Amino acid sequence: MTMIACRLCGGTIEPFLDFGPMPIANGFLRPEDIATERRYPLEVGICRRCAMVQLLHVVPEQEMFNAGYAFFSSTSARMAVHFERFAQDVLSTWLPTAPFVVELGCNDGIMLRHYRRPGVRHLGIEPSANVAAAARGQGLNVIERFFDADVAQEIVEAHGPADALVGANVVCHIPYLDSVFEGAGRLLASEGVFIFEDPYIGDIVRQTAYDQIYDEHIYYFSLASIETLARRHDLEVVDVIPQAVHGGQIRFVLARSGRRRVSDRVAQLAATEQTQGLSVPRTFEAFRAAVERSRDALVGQLDALGAAGQRVVGYGATSKSTTVINYCGLHTRHLEYISDVTPTKIGRVSPGAHIPIRDHAEFRASPPDVALLFAWNHAAEILAKEASFRASGGRFLTYVPRVSLG
Ligand code: TYD
Ligand code: ZN
Repeated sequence: MTMIACRLCGGTIEPFLDFGPMPIANGFLRPEDIATERRYPLEVGICRRCAMVQLLHVVPEQEMFNAGYAFFSSTSARMAVHFERFAQDVLSTWLPTAPFVVELGCNDGIMLRHYRRPGVRHLGIEPSANVAAAARGQGLNVIERFFDADVAQEIVEAHGPADALVGANVVCHIPYLDSVFEGAGRLLASEGVFIFEDPYIGDIVRQTAYDQIYDEHIYYFSLASIETLARRHDLEVVDVIPQAVHGGQIRFVLARSGRRRVSDRVAQLAATEQTQGLSVPRTFEAFRAAVERSRDALVGQLDALGAAGQRVVGYGATSKSTTVINYCGLHTRHLEYISDVTPTKIGRVSPGAHIPIRDHAEFRASPPDVALLFAWNHAAEILAKEASFRASGGRFLTYVPRVSLG
């Protein structure tokens, strides 16, 4: 068992789930690169002192986010709408007139573009070169950096304080989170807000959504752990807004301590977390047992389908699928291929198990009997899109919140 101190508070981490060596979750690779593929330990624990759930080992950034980074945000119609609403909410609820908005990890500009409007100044901070270039190509202001306290300082000096620092699916990716919070403390105007949304550990535990655990997600936030971290930087949580996207996230709104009214939702969520035991290691021991049961049920189901001669393909080459496929030992004998619509993923193979990624057109042309829904976070969108597949007898196999074939 590995013992590592908490990256944030130095407290003792109680490991609760070891997935073993895993390939890079979003490392969809060309068949010719299989020989050089590497694996890294994937193990998760909870800090006994600050309750932050976190990975015990971190994969070097350059292994995950480089020029070949395959993840472009703008592939899901629903997410595009979600980010437009996120931007509108920030502008209408939290900002003064003529605001300055900074976005962490703006990816290809899916949200940042909604801040490009008269009277609003915007700046994106994005370390991945190819997606940063895509954002710039739309005329957005982007600097190609990893955000930390030093970068925050440079931004304040060059552009003045920010009225909002926003981030979607990025804050939990940053190992030096303490420096990010320190940066927020330097960057924000006196009434400024730091608003971010990420996977929520409460949802992960409730839904046994263990596939949210992979190399890029270094932290799994609860209100309790974020409050502890915020306090150290003289920030406080003033609102928490649950989001249905990505299978359950929370949007945290932080402000300088005492500067903004605290929503009743904060105390309500604190009480819910207390009941759910989100700061207690025992809760995570039970989670691990549930994960093992989920794995056994999924493998059992796939073996049964295989024995019955059913054609099964994966649906959505998600990062999450890398955890499921490799933890459950799935193989080309379980899944013929994985269907996806992303041009940069098609023709590649999945990390670890090397299951081919094929164009969704092939799924349409020759529908399988069963589609294993790896992109379960987009279930509503996908079920609507695949109505004819289902009408002609095709079935979706899902595993969150439980293994079910429908
Ligand atoms: P994403 O939601 O980003 O999940 P993760 O963060 O785990 O990678 O990925 C969704 C994947 O599913 C992406 O590769 C695009 C694909 N996809 C389809 O192939 N068809 C669809 O209709 C949708 C919505 C997504
Ligand atoms: Zn800690």
